Amino acid sequence: MENWENLEKICHSCTACGLCETRHSVVFGVGKRDTDVMFVGEGPGEQEDLQGEPFVGPAGKLLDDMMSIVDLDRTNSYIANIVKCRPPRNRDPLETEQEACIGYLRNQVALIKPKIIVCLGRIAAKKLIDPDFRITRQHGQWFRRGNVWMMATYHPSALLRDVAKRPEAFDDLMTLREKIKELGI
Ligand code: URA
Repeated sequence: MENWENLEKICHSCTACGLCETRHSVVFGVGKRDTDVMFVGEGPGEQEDLQGEPFVGPAGKLLDDMMSIVDLDRTNSYIANIVKCRPPRNRDPLETEQEACIGYLRNQVALIKPKIIVCLGRIAAKKLIDPDFRITRQHGQWFRRGNVWMMATYHPSALLRDVAKRPEAFDDLMTLREKIKELGI
């Protein structure tokens, strides 16, 4: 396991998969490193790739709104992605790309030691909770993995495309609020 400084340095010069050839930035993560709550998305989009920070495009604006419902923001929680470099045209990251990158996220989790990880969307839920995860059926449910409570909700981009899913995402956030209270965070 690397410390933050080394991890960030190694990650920023990573060439472990083909995404390094088209990226503008490595999007490492943002937020409080000493936090109990982490959010994990799938991978940087166009704005994130240009600015080097996760969730700064339209989906990021919605994520900020979602987080504020449970009194969280970029200063009191940590936000990262399964892959740190943008997949071309925002396609789903390939399994090989996820495998090449996941060690960085695992190292970030080991350093942060969060009590709760919220997966944003199907890709993160499949990678972190269960390869057979079904987001429509299992969002809002809690899964214990070691010392960490994990839950998935809809990806903010999905909520931008389909507003009908927003009430369910709101319920997931209420579940998150309950868990935060229950754990005394
Ligand atoms: N979508 C993601 O999954 N992550 C980001 O950082 C931005 C958009």
